[in-house]
Amino acid sequence: MTQQKAVAWVTGGTGGIGTAICRGLADAGYQVLAGYNNPDKARAWLETQRADGYDNIDVLGVDLTSFEACQNGVKEAQEKYGSISVLVNCAGITRDGTLKKMTSDQWNEVIDTNLNSVFNTCRSVIESMLEGSYGRIINISSINGRKGQFGQVNYSAAKAGMHGLTMALAQETATKGITVNTISPGYIATDMIMKIPEKVRDAIRETIPMKRYGTPEEIARLVAFLADRENGFITGANIDINGGQFMG
Ligand code: CAA
Repeated sequence: MTQQKAVAWVTGGTGGIGTAICRGLADAGYQVLAGYNNPDKARAWLETQRADGYDNIDVLGVDLTSFEACQNGVKEAQEKYGSISVLVNCAGITRDGTLKKMTSDQWNEVIDTNLNSVFNTCRSVIESMLEGSYGRIINISSINGRKGQFGQVNYSAAKAGMHGLTMALAQETATKGITVNTISPGYIATDMIMKIPEKVRDAIRETIPMKRYGTPEEIARLVAFLADRENGFITGANIDINGGQFMG
């Protein structure tokens, strides 16, 4: 083991929201492990973080859809950096389409990447969190898991499922120093949003009372708050951060 900073694993760490979360947690003093899917992108991404002075960010390449890969990745990371005390499940994909056109591949890819992955990661870190009587798990869900979204039966189901997991695991860990919470962002200015056809995107923007998209940094600040050791009485909660687009 090289050093003993508290370790945070952010899946989807090289993505739009993930990058801001990694930097926010690094600013808060964590050793951050950014999960990624694309090794070339991850290499370039890490160089950028280092050039910006983030020596306490590293990358962790794990296929989140594989339970075994998660177990092995966590074991290796813990040998190098020590126990993971903060897990942020931020990896997610979209495969939009109306149900009448959706293929079973589109369904399965989204459920595997956005929901089954959360079981795989949580299961891989929970034993060491229980041993240490401390942990923070933060699941990045979506406004569309709260209200449903035309063209996203797969994504809406996965994101709603994440919060079910949050509430159940929060109960299992409430007396063990571990909090488990969900953040449900609305439409945040990232590449994922830019993939929506422009006309559809503009129409969605009009439905946001604040008439703007959120920023990744606005999500990252909430993650850092929930990750803080001092904030130990919030658990099983869903926190909406969506410019007023859905008030549930
Ligand atoms: N509500 C009601 N009807 C709608 C609609 C809506 N929101 N959007 C489209 N329609 C209608 C169209 O007007 C059209 O009607 P007609 O057939 O009468 O002309 C019909 O539905 C189109 O249906 P199709 O099955 O032919 O759909 P399509 O192939 O043209 O495209 C789509 C469907 C791909 C889902 C497209 O609408 C789309 O991209 N929608 C955006 C989905 C979305 O919001 N994704 C979010 C991605 S970002 C994200 O997920 C991050 C996050 O967490 C917020």
